[in-house]
Amino acid sequence: MKEVIHSIRLAFEQELNVCRKATDFEALKVRYLGKKGLIQEQLKNLRDVPDQEKPLAGKLVNDLKKEIEWRICESLDGCQFSEEQDRLTSEVLDVTLPGRKSHVGSKHPITQMLDEMTDIFISMGFSVALGPEIESEYYNFDVLNIPQDHPARDMQDTFYVGPGLLLRTHTSNVQGRIMENSNPPIRIICPGRCYRNESIDARHHVFFHQIEGLYIDEKVSLQDLLATLSEFVRRLFKKEVDVRLRPSYFPFVEPGVELDMSCLLCEGKGCGLCKHSGWLEILGAGMVHPQVLRNVGLDPEKYSGYAWGLGVERMVSLRHGINDIRLYSENDMRFLNQFYAI
Ligand code: FA5
Repeated sequence: MKEVIHSIRLAFEQELNVCRKATDFEALKVRYLGKKGLIQEQLKNLRDVPDQEKPLAGKLVNDLKKEIEWRICESLDGCQFSEEQDRLTSEVLDVTLPGRKSHVGSKHPITQMLDEMTDIFISMGFSVALGPEIESEYYNFDVLNIPQDHPARDMQDTFYVGPGLLLRTHTSNVQGRIMENSNPPIRIICPGRCYRNESIDARHHVFFHQIEGLYIDEKVSLQDLLATLSEFVRRLFKKEVDVRLRPSYFPFVEPGVELDMSCLLCEGKGCGLCKHSGWLEILGAGMVHPQVLRNVGLDPEKYSGYAWGLGVERMVSLRHGINDIRLYSENDMRFLNQFYAI
């Protein structure tokens, strides 16, 4: 037994001397101390040793086991330490390199415009009212004087999501909800997203944004509408801009108008942007129809009011000279980064 132990010790010493890396030591450990290793084999062999020699033989094997454990542990520590040192000296840390920039997002140009417009109207005494994008036919059409089968429904074809439920075609859906539950004076704006079943092209999309405005009180006139919107346009574009009203038709207003502003590019002289007319159409508006007031329980003999619905994409395009509405929803960072603002 003594000779066997001796030869294992010699072999171990030789093998230990040629170990260089931490993985070599790990492999050596398995070979000698593992479940099927040489030491385990010797412990099993003790069965065949005569009884009187067993204590001494057992001691020899156990001593060798401890010695191997200790030698491997000691060498492994030294090896790991020097590997760490080698790594540290070979790694070059250049503290002058610029740090990695973390990307901070920014508001979408449509959101920036919505915020700016909202601020202007709030400063003029309007408060913000929001409504659902999934809306009942009643609030989107009926209450606004557009009954079932009325040809005006064709002007705003939409996506139906269930019986009597649709994606709102305009922010005018908020009008009925607010008027039903409030007493005049009512002075609100309703910013939000709308949907229409339309062919997508440079000027039309299936979803877009509007800001609705509604003012109901005694003795409200078309002149109030004109004054409010001219002041709004002047503040938004930060310069004197002419506005004009043109007759138009929306079933929920009487009279109905479209508001044009003088072309920003040519200042009214005529150019490609304004199709050589000198004017740009920016919104639909009018005096709230007496039938709409009746539908929500307000007396049209006592109250009058105006409403408008403004397309937000159109305003962003006017300000930045963008000629295709599809750019707003394509998520192209080359386009969006141009509007980076914190
Ligand atoms: C309306 O939606 C009316 N509710 C506006 C209104 C409110 C009139 C209150 C009277 C009183 P119109 O369908 O014209 O009107 O849409 C208003 C604006 O929304 C348009 O001038 C345009 O800028 C924008 N718009 C309408 N359809 C689309 C579309 N498919 N894609 C992009 N913008 C659109």
